[in-house]
Amino acid sequence: MITLKGVTIAKGKHYILNDITCTIKKGELIGLIGPSGSGKTTMFRALAGIIKVKSGQIKIKDKEQPTLEVSGYIGYMAQNDALYSELTAEENLLYFGALHRLKGKELKERVDKLLHFVDLYHVRKRKIAFFSGGMKRRLSLAIALIHDPDILLLDEPTVGIDPKLKLDFWQEFKRLKKAGKTILLSTHLMDEAEVCDRLLFMRNGKLSDAGTPEKLIQHHGSVDVAFLKEAQV
Ligand SMILES: Nc1ncnc2c1ncn2[C@@H]1O[C@H](COP(=O)(O)OP(=O)(O)OP(=O)(O)O)[C@@H](O)[C@H]1O
Ligand SMILES: [Mg+2]
Repeated sequence: MITLKGVTIAKGKHYILNDITCTIKKGELIGLIGPSGSGKTTMFRALAGIIKVKSGQIKIKDKEQPTLEVSGYIGYMAQNDALYSELTAEENLLYFGALHRLKGKELKERVDKLLHFVDLYHVRKRKIAFFSGGMKRRLSLAIALIHDPDILLLDEPTVGIDPKLKLDFWQEFKRLKKAGKTILLSTHLMDEAEVCDRLLFMRNGKLSDAGTPEKLIQHHGSVDVAFLKEAQV
């Protein structure tokens, strides 16, 4: 579904992503983990086609990124919410749905369903400027899902989300996976990392390890220990 070959991104002499090679299969739920600044968000942005790679290649469904065609398959929830603050929650969803060529009754039904799912239906007429951080995260997830994409790129989707809704989100991620969607999400939380099919462990722009959570725990003592070690560097 997604292949990266020698993907390298640099700013001047500084490598942000350094020679990343990996494959993600259809239906996998992958956790992207690693210390702050290790390149997770940059990886998402490259996959979403927002930034160009300096060298190497990204293919999504056998199409080389960036292409416009691929954007229809991808739902991207950015770490910093990209929302229109002067529009209401409902207007934001209608706008992004229209960008994906949804319209009429289908669009309205999808918007209502997602507003209920992220528990924002009661504040759908409120401008984003008056939303809390967690409310914006919830709306960003709804927007990533609006066109029912095959691939979900979710950059720290549960940050600022209360525990009850976090459970709902995870139930939905598991349901989407069962429905054949491919999900790549980043997290700093061990309970989330442990339920992924596989983990990609980033360090200093490199893919330093990859495998099942069990394998990574074996390698590093525990996933927590890996982070603690990083924190001391
Ligand atoms: N546009 C940019 N120009 C220059 N440097 C950048 C740019 N974007 C990211 N970086 C640098 O690239 C590195 C990786 O950043 P990135 O945001 O991908 O990390 P991250 O793993 O997502 O971190 P976090 O866990 O804090 O979200 C950092 O050192 C950051 O300063
Ligand atoms: Mg990040």
